[in-house]
Amino acid sequence: MGKRVVVVGTQWGDEGKGKITDYLAGKAEVVVRSQGGNNAGHSITIDGERFALHLIPSGIFNPNIQNVMANGMVIDPVSLFKEIDQLAARGVKNFKLMISDRAHVVMPYHLILDGAFETLKGDAAVGTTKKGIGPAYTDKSARIGVRVGDLLDPVVLSDRIAANLAITNPLLKLMNKEPFDAETLLRDYLVFGERMRPFIADTSVYLNDAIEEGRKILFEGAQGIMLCLDHGTYPYVTSSSPTAAAVPLNCGIAPMAITDVVGVTKAYTTRVGGGAFPTEFEDDTSRRIREVGHEYGTTTGRARRIGWLDAVVLKHSRRVSGATGLAIMLLDVLSGIPTLNICTHYLIDGKRVDYIPGNYRAFAAAVPVYESFPGWTEDISTVGRFADLPINAQGYLRAIERLSGVPIVMFSVGPDRTQTVTLKQPFNDSDYEEE
Ligand code: IMP
Repeated sequence: MGKRVVVVGTQWGDEGKGKITDYLAGKAEVVVRSQGGNNAGHSITIDGERFALHLIPSGIFNPNIQNVMANGMVIDPVSLFKEIDQLAARGVKNFKLMISDRAHVVMPYHLILDGAFETLKGDAAVGTTKKGIGPAYTDKSARIGVRVGDLLDPVVLSDRIAANLAITNPLLKLMNKEPFDAETLLRDYLVFGERMRPFIADTSVYLNDAIEEGRKILFEGAQGIMLCLDHGTYPYVTSSSPTAAAVPLNCGIAPMAITDVVGVTKAYTTRVGGGAFPTEFEDDTSRRIREVGHEYGTTTGRARRIGWLDAVVLKHSRRVSGATGLAIMLLDVLSGIPTLNICTHYLIDGKRVDYIPGNYRAFAAAVPVYESFPGWTEDISTVGRFADLPINAQGYLRAIERLSGVPIVMFSVGPDRTQTVTLKQPFNDSDYEEE
């Protein structure tokens, strides 16, 4: 049986999921993106060349892999075709891509609303990527969304746009913004529909067939569990659920179909946008981590906030999403730092807390309590086996396993595909295969 492996980010996104999904994509036959939109940014380095993907699944570089954009996504066609054109310009033309007819479309008014809501929120702004993600999911739940399949049917699309603008245009007027013209939208989005036609399909039917045929399927997560609409640090979250639990719903498959969950975890923590971040610190060490780790947003270019690894976050992720193994990323970035800290629990009002409080004021008041570990000075970027790591780096990884309760299945010592050490390959049944 081909395994069905979910890759999730266990922190606030930007854990390096792109690299792991790209690596695992090489072992899979189908690669699926199930939620979010072009708020995500996966950077992948192939032969020293850096590719930034926002919407398109990571299997796109392999012409034999079927890539699927599933129903849980919100897709901006402008961004989609920009990405397809950019890939083509760099020689990536021969690919297989399927887009769910039930995925929602990010419309131009969503971008306007995202920016306007953020401005109106003032100090309470979420710090969104301003890609229209929140408003697109809002319209989905308000049942005034446009779905990808609608772009193929002029009658349905006209009805959907009318239903939406009946609500959106008065809202825009209230905010002194230009209303949208239904005819123009209809014309422009029918054109997108025609261009998308070859890709549009019922991806749930396809995926269920693929499962029955025993294909190896990789579900690549976007964002991270702490940005989950339900289980993240609400309201400083995204508008979908990046958990493994959400994958079946977002793809139209049964929960039992998932066999493995790889929790991708940065060896430290980063966060972009607003919201509390207990292990955040700003000094020469954090600035060094930011520069060495290129901690600037792939999507927005914003400098990422830096913090120590937080085991409370890892345990939370494990609880709400499950993880059969961890992939520890950017371990090499920590080389040369004399002392490394991992937060084991918080003190909130003097009380020990080892879960993420739902109340955001309590979370903001959390004081991290650390266990400290000696660092290493050696360059680890060419290490190919766990045993070849400096003893202190081995100790740091063992501590992550102990504090999170999840075994490490992979770790990464540099940006290139080759700089990935696999202890247990999730698509394999045999244990502890060293590559
Ligand atoms: P939105 O998803 O654009 O609405 O942004 C909501 C929050 O999620 C903001 O704090 C963003 O910075 C964050 N966010 C969304 N997508 C990503 C991602 O792929 N990586 C990291 N942060 C993200």
